[in-house]
Amino acid sequence: MRSTAELQAADRRHLWHPFTQQRAWCEDEEPLIIEQAEGVNLYDTDGNPYIDGVASLWCNVHGHRHPALDEAVAEQLGRVAHSTMLGASHPGAIELAERLLESAPAGLTRVFYSDSGSTAVEVALKMAFQWWLQRGERRTTFICLEGACHGDTLGAVSVGGIELLHSRYDPLLFDTVQARSGDGRQLDELLEQNAGQAAAVIVEPLVQGAGMLMQPHGYLERVRQLCDAHGVLLICDEVATGFGRTGMMFACDHEAVAPDLMCVGKGLTGGYLPLAATLTTERVYEGFLGTPEEARTFFHGHTYTGNPLACAAGIATLETFKRERTLETLAPKIELLERLLAQRIAVLPGVVEVRQRGFMVGIELIGRPPGERLGHAVAMAARRRGALIRPLGDVIVLMPPLTISEADLRRLAAITAASIAETTVGRLRAAA
Ligand SMILES: Cc1ncc(COP(=O)(O)O)c(C=O)c1O
Repeated sequence: MRSTAELQAADRRHLWHPFTQQRAWCEDEEPLIIEQAEGVNLYDTDGNPYIDGVASLWCNVHGHRHPALDEAVAEQLGRVAHSTMLGASHPGAIELAERLLESAPAGLTRVFYSDSGSTAVEVALKMAFQWWLQRGERRTTFICLEGACHGDTLGAVSVGGIELLHSRYDPLLFDTVQARSGDGRQLDELLEQNAGQAAAVIVEPLVQGAGMLMQPHGYLERVRQLCDAHGVLLICDEVATGFGRTGMMFACDHEAVAPDLMCVGKGLTGGYLPLAATLTTERVYEGFLGTPEEARTFFHGHTYTGNPLACAAGIATLETFKRERTLETLAPKIELLERLLAQRIAVLPGVVEVRQRGFMVGIELIGRPPGERLGHAVAMAARRRGALIRPLGDVIVLMPPLTISEADLRRLAAITAASIAETTVGRLRAAA
């Protein structure tokens, strides 16, 4: 067994972490090395526990090492770890598709697997474009929302709307039209201006994850109506909001919206293995049918698309939702979280605003120069107290596994409050 110090040194020598300034990682930080987990706790190589306050990047649903999920993956391992979906199928992919469609918004009848949220979005964009093309229309415009984040591959970045993350890649991206989130009237105008050009509108329904920006009630339904009125496809990216995060199975369910294409990932396998899917309707699917020579085929498919181990985790995840009545037990915890946020966090002088939808929370801290890395400092303070949270700039995100107990939820709120107080008090005093 290698010591923590040896592992840290080797990490600094060889790894390049995502969304991480490596100089700060290597020179100023103590890399945290997670070795084990149980329920909502992660354990580092020295045995210290941390509440998983962001569900291991928003994907863990039923907790870590859940017996039903562990067993399902182990059982599948006894059969086959991977076989391709290109020109073959497997029982797990079939069963997961059936179960997924059962719980998805009405009208979605087809499942196209991939392996990450970003690829699920790429699939949706390419499908929408090709669908129009095969109807004799070359529609190249996608309408997306300001502040959107749909992943890191170039198609997903094209429909993203975050200056810091996306604008430098502009020369590599296709053109899009950006709409203001929540503004139905402007979207109507943009659809009018882009008549015959717009292939689809793409939105993160209810909550824009990067920044935890909430849409006003009724906006999603309005977007659906406008897409129908202008004859444009609607893509709902449920990668972050899906699988109970907002309090219902899908965010679309809150406003009874059925998209033409729906992207899911993250929680699809309970946070166990990389798997994603793009769900669509018979109408879209039929647009791709023809003889091989007609080349209406959807020419897309990743090596690990529909991986059997991941599908087994996906089936167990959906089964566990039913067996443990996860959504029912979540409802009172959402209310508790709301109270804790109001009583313990919104009242802090270092907090500007608290935004919550279900188990998705953004805590906006006082504005400070980026060099201060205030959000990061809060996350480090929380780590010292035994919780892992990750900021998006100066917005602290809380997104624990749905199965977190009320006691752990209270502890997570208390740690977050104490960490914000500790980190902001000096800065507020200096600014006064
Ligand atoms: C709404 C949304 N779409 C897509 C993605 C990309 O998913 P992945 O990181 O699995 O590629 C994310 C990731 O956070 C997301 O929040």
